[in-house]
Amino acid sequence: MLNFSNTNILLGVTGGIAAYKSAEIIRLFKKEGASVRVVMTESAKEFITPLTLQAVSGNEIHDSLLDVNAESAMGHIELAKWADIILIAPCTAETIAKITHGRADDLMGALILASEADVYIAPAMNMSMWLDASTQDNYKILEKRGITFIGPAQGEQACGDIGPGRLEEPEKIIEFITKLANKGPLSGKTITITAGPTREQIDPVRFISNNSSGKMGYSIAEAAIKYGAQVNLVTGPVSLDADKSINLHKINSASEMLDEVIKCMKSSDIFIGCAAVSDYKPSDYSIKKIKKEDNSSLDIELEKNEDILKYVSDNFSESYIVGFAAETSDVIENAKKKLLTKNLDMIISNDISDKSIGFDADENEVNVITKDETLLLKKDKKIRIARQILKIISANINK
Ligand code: PMT
Repeated sequence: MLNFSNTNILLGVTGGIAAYKSAEIIRLFKKEGASVRVVMTESAKEFITPLTLQAVSGNEIHDSLLDVNAESAMGHIELAKWADIILIAPCTAETIAKITHGRADDLMGALILASEADVYIAPAMNMSMWLDASTQDNYKILEKRGITFIGPAQGEQACGDIGPGRLEEPEKIIEFITKLANKGPLSGKTITITAGPTREQIDPVRFISNNSSGKMGYSIAEAAIKYGAQVNLVTGPVSLDADKSINLHKINSASEMLDEVIKCMKSSDIFIGCAAVSDYKPSDYSIKKIKKEDNSSLDIELEKNEDILKYVSDNFSESYIVGFAAETSDVIENAKKKLLTKNLDMIISNDISDKSIGFDADENEVNVITKDETLLLKKDKKIRIARQILKIISANINK
């Protein structure tokens, strides 16, 4: 059964003859329980009136980036956050090009940049425009970034040409999104993910830790839930909320993390070690707070923590095992060494010397490395990087 209850759909309508079909798309989404808001480009209004789409959606139309009234009601950032799914149907060659180049000179472009929602594009244009090298290049770039294309369909076009370029039929668009949204590429799989820092206590008030915020690991967990997986998130102390569907295992130290991971891995298909696990812990824990007046200097003896990732690859080798590599130099080469020494299926390398990515940043840029290939995922919000990583993992396990 189709079901979009509790789902917020943002429908982008751009200027093309197929814009009249957007009313039917809205009707079908609403029938399945979705809330729908509509963004129209100026040229879309030449083909269908805002009043029609307002009446069908039950919400006022959004059409301007710089409208003071619109901003006071639901500004473009709020609208971007509101959306669970963004569908642009019909989507012109112009809008595809705009999104490819990250332009934000109208509401549609700005929303795509600001939103963390899954984005679907249903193109509609003359077949020569669709087959043109520029449009095809843009299409491939957007697919690589994790945007899903629906169609275009083949057939007779408004101009009389016959070929690819028709908007896919509304029923098919809804069916396609339903399949991906309700039965994601990871449905039936259980994933265990580690996130955040660990804390290695020295005494009751002091500990060794690091700046991991948990954002990268939590983003992967959230994306995995959306893709239909059962998710165990073994997390160090962070100040983030996790989706209610995630099985949360809160720990402090690396040895507690290892214990929880072992329990979870007994029924997991995939392991993703994103946590910044402390490599060392104090050899002795002082039950009493160490007094500073007793010491002019303080030596703390450290001993190595178990490498959780290596433990998983040694003991759960039938699972697909993914590590992260936090590097400051030779980002790819050093990560490749970890891929081999820890016997992993994949390692995701990030350059933590760049403060705008990696630790505690909202964005990341990573190289996804397997034995066969290295793929750069360019700087983007962590949730989008997370989705791309999961799509690659799901393609690899289904090979
Ligand atoms: O949490 P954020 O603020 O969003 O930041 C994200 C991040 C930078 C922490 C993340 O993207 C990242 O790089 N995580 C791995 C951090 C790390 O410890 O890297 P490493 O190169 O030192 O370790 C390699 C791998 O071994 C990692 O998968 C790590 O989880 C694992 N490891 C390390 C030591 C240990 N004792 N046990 C482990 O499992």
